[in-house]
Amino acid sequence: MKERNKTLGEYIIEKQEEFKYSSGELSRIINAIRLAAKVVNYKVNKAGLVDIVGAAGEQNIQGEDQQKLDVYANEVFIQTLINREIVCGIASEENDDFITVHGKAGDDNNKYVVLMDPLDGSSNIDVNVSVGTIFSVYRRVTPVGTPVTLEDFLQPGDQQVAAGYVIYGTSTMLVYTTGHGVNGFTLNPAIGTFYLSHPNMQYSADGKIYSVNEGNYIHFPQGVKDYIKYCQMEEGDRPYTSRYIGSLVSDFHRNMIKGGVYIYPTSSKAPNGKLRLLYECNPMAFIAEQAGGKASDGYGRIMEIKPTELHQRVPFFCGSKNMVAKAEEFMAKYK
Ligand code: AHG
Ligand code: MN
Ligand code: MN
Repeated sequence: MKERNKTLGEYIIEKQEEFKYSSGELSRIINAIRLAAKVVNYKVNKAGLVDIVGAAGEQNIQGEDQQKLDVYANEVFIQTLINREIVCGIASEENDDFITVHGKAGDDNNKYVVLMDPLDGSSNIDVNVSVGTIFSVYRRVTPVGTPVTLEDFLQPGDQQVAAGYVIYGTSTMLVYTTGHGVNGFTLNPAIGTFYLSHPNMQYSADGKIYSVNEGNYIHFPQGVKDYIKYCQMEEGDRPYTSRYIGSLVSDFHRNMIKGGVYIYPTSSKAPNGKLRLLYECNPMAFIAEQAGGKASDGYGRIMEIKPTELHQRVPFFCGSKNMVAKAEEFMAKYK
């Protein structure tokens, strides 16, 4: 009989000793995220049935309308992490400031901070298109025993100890890395268990998909315009195919499996791009690199950027490494 796939729970226990600081805390954080993902998944699946689609009537700090599910997912992830008393701080795309979390005895002895985009691609909910959750984990830099400060959150991406995403798609998956490759787990909704379905996920070095919101073409920098024309040119394995969902998690997931590049550049409308360095780009960059891909701001490695503010935005070029390198070549011509 074929051995059944490992469950995520079994996998976490088995891999615990691989973690850099093996106190079990990081395992417990992944476990908390696993639980919150199931709760949000349940709600996402019922989105058309209950009064949860549509705008919540508020805007987040970035002036975007918050969707009801944005607010719900944000609360579920934050509460699950707070209830388990395993992190010392949380920063979310949906909150103006970071949250300080105290330990069991009201202390500040926990070592990790979590940063997240609780619901990515939220404009897609109302039309039944896949959305996701993105998370990123760092070890605090300020001394254990003191409350967290902004400094603990403003670390370059190469300091991440774990990162991952949940994709609420035709099936729900949790994909994550702790710096030892990327593994994907698929939820069996009948029993509420994630099973290892995509071990050691890898980008192909080349790909044939490019993903960019071409409606903004006129506003893009010349290097991106030239790269798009290059993708569309008839030569060798080109033209490439264009695929764009408008949900970073979904676009990234497809490109990692099939080979491709995702670009959200600067534009004359969004001079720093749209995506957030801490909640979206760094975690995706960590996963991409762990899967043999590449992530860049058009000129250099995303994970080496020293953040200056929580909600900082950056241009993002991410995917199969030769495709990202090619896009960088075009960008360099106009630097
Ligand atoms: P969020 O729903 O967390 O605000 O993120 C939406 C992001 C990202 O998921 C997606 O790739 C991008 O916005 C789409 O932006 P455009 O509609 O400008 O293409
Ligand atoms: Mn997002
Ligand atoms: Mn979001």
